[in-house]
Amino acid sequence: MSVAFPVSNGATGMIGLVTGEGVLIVLYRGCVEREGLYSSAELPGVAFIITRGEKNSKIKKMDPWVLLATLVVVLLSVWYIKSRYTHWSSMGVRTGFFLPFVGHSFGVLFCKDMWTPMEMGHKLCIEFGGFYGVYQFTKPQLLISEPDIMKLILIKDFDHFTDRPALTSDKDNITSHSIGNVTGEEWKILRAIMSPTFSSGKIKRMFSLVCQNADTLVTSCLHQASKNPALDMKDMFGRFTMDSIASCAFGIDCSSFVREKPEFVQMAEKVFGLSSFSGMLKLIIRMSLPRLARALGISRDGPEVDFFRNVVEETIRTREESGQCRGDFLDLMLETRHQNNTTTTGKGKAVLSNDVVLAQCITFLSAGFDTVSSTLYFVSHLLAQHPDQQHRLRQELEALVEEEGQLTYQGVMEAKFLQACINEALRLYPPAMTTVRTCTKPYQIPGTQIRLRVGDEVLYSTRAVQRDPRFWQHPDKFQPDRFLPHNNHLITPCSFLPFGMGPRNCIAMRFGLMEVKVALSKLLLKSELKLSPGHENIQMKNWSIIATPVSESRIDVTPI
Ligand code: HEM
Repeated sequence: MSVAFPVSNGATGMIGLVTGEGVLIVLYRGCVEREGLYSSAELPGVAFIITRGEKNSKIKKMDPWVLLATLVVVLLSVWYIKSRYTHWSSMGVRTGFFLPFVGHSFGVLFCKDMWTPMEMGHKLCIEFGGFYGVYQFTKPQLLISEPDIMKLILIKDFDHFTDRPALTSDKDNITSHSIGNVTGEEWKILRAIMSPTFSSGKIKRMFSLVCQNADTLVTSCLHQASKNPALDMKDMFGRFTMDSIASCAFGIDCSSFVREKPEFVQMAEKVFGLSSFSGMLKLIIRMSLPRLARALGISRDGPEVDFFRNVVEETIRTREESGQCRGDFLDLMLETRHQNNTTTTGKGKAVLSNDVVLAQCITFLSAGFDTVSSTLYFVSHLLAQHPDQQHRLRQELEALVEEEGQLTYQGVMEAKFLQACINEALRLYPPAMTTVRTCTKPYQIPGTQIRLRVGDEVLYSTRAVQRDPRFWQHPDKFQPDRFLPHNNHLITPCSFLPFGMGPRNCIAMRFGLMEVKVALSKLLLKSELKLSPGHENIQMKNWSIIATPVSESRIDVTPI
C-alpha cells in the first residue's frame, strides 16, 4: 500500500519519511540537525526528506521514547488506515479516488459544489457494474444502482434493511421522533399508525385545500406576468408548497403570496438550513461524529422547534375544545390517536404524544417542501423546453374539464399524460438522488462476495439507475411516452423509483403527486410556459440534500 500524506516543509515543523511499503516515520525539526552528513540517497527507501534548501540532514540525539512513541503512532495510523480503507477492496468492490481520514467526503470539504463529486459517484457506479464502494470519512457505504439488487434490499429482504441511519442520535432532538428517523419496532408501529392518514380516501379530503392554494398560485402568476412574463417560478412554487403544507400539516393559513415572509416561512427556512454548505457539514458531523456534534451543540433543537411546538399545541387545544375539523393531517393524526387509543405501545412508550405529532408535522415540512416545489419546477421547465408535449398535456386537461365541468380529484389523479410528464421529470431529476438504508441483520448480497455487517450503510442511486442506458433508450431525453400505460412492459422493475420502493418508500407519495398535479394542471389551463432567455438550462443549487434549482430560476408565463 502506498500512502500519500500531506507533509509540511521541514523548516516549519514536521518532516514525513515514507520508507518501504507504507511505513511512515515522522520526525520533528528539533530532532534533525543539519550537519551535512546524510542525504536521501544514504537512507535506502526514504521517499521524502524535506528541508528548505539543505541537501543533507542528520538525525541526532533523538530521545528513544519520542522515537518509539512516534513509531507507535505512525504504525497505528497505518494499521487504522489499512483496516478502514480496505473494507471494500477486500470484497471485490471498486472504489474511486479517496483521501485517508476524509474518504470520499472531500467533495463536501473541497469542491465548490456537491454535484460534481456526486455526479462522478453516480457515473462510476454505472461504470463499475452497479456497485461502488464509498467512505464517508471512515465509514464504509455501498452505493448501488443494480435494479435486481435494489429489489432484494428494498422489498424481498427488507427485514435486513429496515432502518435509515439516524439524522441525530440525540433523543432530546425532536427529529429523533420523526417517522423518517425512528428505527426497528418503533418505526413499524409508527408507520402502521400513519399509513391510513395517507390513504387515497384521506388525501381526497385535502384536495380542496390544495386547490385553493393552487388557485392563489395561478392568480399571483398571472398578476405578476402582466408586468413581466419572466417569473421566478422556483419562488412561486415554493410559496404554493409552503401554503399547502402550512394548511395540510399545521392547520394554519400561511398566505405566503400575500404577506412578505410570514413568521411561519422564516421559521420553516431554519428547518431547511440543510440546503447550504454549513447545513450539509453539520448533517455529516451529526451522522458520522455524533459525540463531536453534541460537544459543538449542533445536535440540539433550534428556536424554530419551539415556534412549531406552540403552533401545533395551540391548534390541538383549539380543535379539541371546539370539535372543529378541517380534514388535514393534524386532524387525521388526532383522529387516529383517539380511535386506536394508541397513546402507548406494548412497551409503554408514547407513540402519538404531542411531541410525536409535532415531529411528524416538522417532517412533512422538511420532506415535503423541496421535493414538491422542485418537481413542479423541473416538470414546468421541461414542458417549456418541449412545447409540443406541453400542448398535448393542455389538450388532455381541457378535455377533462370539458367532461367534468371542473378539475376533480379523480380526473386529475387518473389523467394519463399528466402522470407520464411528471414521471418523466422525476426520472430525469429525482429530488432524492440517493437514498440510504442501514443493514440491520448480516447480509450477503447474492451472487457477490459482498458481506454487509449490522450498521453498514447502503445507498441506492436513483439518479444512476434512472439514467442508465441499459434500461432507458436515449436516457437524457424528455420522452413522457415511455410512461404511458401501453409502454409499461418496457420498464425494468426497480429502474424507476423516485419515491423509493418497498415498505419504507415515501409514505406521502399520493399527497405529493396530488400537489404537483393540481398546481401544474391549473397553471397550464390558464397559461403557456416558455423558456426564459438566460434560463434555458436547469441550474442546481450547489449545496442541498434534495436536488433543488437555484434561486431566481425563471420561466416565462403568458396568459392564454
Ligand atoms: C414529489 C414529491 C416527493 C418525492 C419525490 C419524495 C421522495 C421520497 C423518497 C425517495 C423517500 C425515501 C424512500 C426510501 O427510503 O426508499 C421519501 C420518504 C418519505 N417522504 Fe417523501 N417525497 C415526496 C413528497 C413528500 C411529501 C409531500 C411528504 C409529506 C407530506 C413526504 C414525506 C415523506 C416521509 C415522512 C418519508 C419517510 C417515510 C418512512 O421512513 O417511513 N414526502 N420520500
